[in-house]
Amino acid sequence: MNAASPLTSRLQGFGASIFAEMTALAVSTGSINLGQGFPDYDGPAEVLQIARDQIAGGNNQYPPGIGMADLRLAVSGHQDRFWGLTYDPTTEILITMGATEALAGALLGILNDGDEVIVFEPLFDTYAGCIALAGAISVPITLRPQESGRYEFDADELRRSITSRTRMILLNSPHNPTGSVFTFEELQTIASIAIEHDLIVISDEVYEHLVFDNKKHIPIATLPGMFERTITISSGGKSFNTTGWKIGWACAPAPLINATRMAKQLFTFAGGSPFQPAIAAGLRLPDSYFTALAADLQNKRDVLMLALEECGLRPITPEGTYFITADVRGRRADGDGVAFCRELPGQAGIVAIPAAVLYDPRHESEGRHLVRFAFCKERSTIARASEQLRAWA
Ligand SMILES: Cc1ncc(COP(=O)(O)O)c(C=O)c1O
Repeated sequence: MNAASPLTSRLQGFGASIFAEMTALAVSTGSINLGQGFPDYDGPAEVLQIARDQIAGGNNQYPPGIGMADLRLAVSGHQDRFWGLTYDPTTEILITMGATEALAGALLGILNDGDEVIVFEPLFDTYAGCIALAGAISVPITLRPQESGRYEFDADELRRSITSRTRMILLNSPHNPTGSVFTFEELQTIASIAIEHDLIVISDEVYEHLVFDNKKHIPIATLPGMFERTITISSGGKSFNTTGWKIGWACAPAPLINATRMAKQLFTFAGGSPFQPAIAAGLRLPDSYFTALAADLQNKRDVLMLALEECGLRPITPEGTYFITADVRGRRADGDGVAFCRELPGQAGIVAIPAAVLYDPRHESEGRHLVRFAFCKERSTIARASEQLRAWA
């Protein structure tokens, strides 16, 4: 066999994930891992019990490719209850293996070679890889920390980036890793551009329920003229602390769902039978469940923010998600976030992720000095991490 890498040319240039290196560092140094974004506590007991009962009751074979009818009904009910969006569960909802598969299905099912996709960076790593696999081109618009204390994009830069090849805008709000919850005005800017240029919008809303300080999540599909061109994607992982179950969904008018499904059926076809009824029950939990989930995370955010501030790391307050980004220049004059993250486990027993890896390689300098901490951990873990950071300071 030829000694050259067998990796497809479409994925050349995509490096090995920094998450593996940081997780290995967490293990070898016995550090608290605030790098990877998964909760270290379980979801609602009744949701977990349904999955156990389903396995015991024999729901262990392939589900329908489009997803189980009851889960599609529950997703439809959830979209209506929280956001006033009406989707037909028989034609406008597709169940996927996590939001990741919904994203991959939509991108690979719709994009053609040379299409351009607007993305907001720093970004979730699946986006750039799937866009490249589809033979399309990512056009990153940078979210930058502002005087307002939040990350924002420049509307003119966004307008200028549209070309005759632009096919799609891929949006994520609440946004990982900046924690920005896009405002109505920001969404309106995006919507007006999408309508003017007849673009499809993919809206990744996996953090839809993790919003703080009485801010409101607004699905872009609710804006006038947007329902017909938007694929709204979410999953049960973040809302029910079940990231390993990988039950996600896409909601859109039938033609967009059909294109997504054409690609999705080639990946897993279908999966997660015993988890689908459990997530359906989760989606039907009372509003109080979702309010308490956000309130608990807001409290953890505040505890960790204070410790980061006190040790000179200048955190930027997230409005949603379970990530805090912080500026390391107060502690490291060269502003090298990657070197900072490699040293922090040995010095403070904490693992974080350098944000630079979440930028387009051409713009890495934009995020060079930023690092990301996840606060979706037990209160005792967050308290311990905060103590360790203070001791290190
Ligand atoms: C913005 C964003 N989208 C999608 C996902 C993946 O969701 P899932 O685990 O449901 O595939 C994540 C997970 O971290 C994420 O942060």
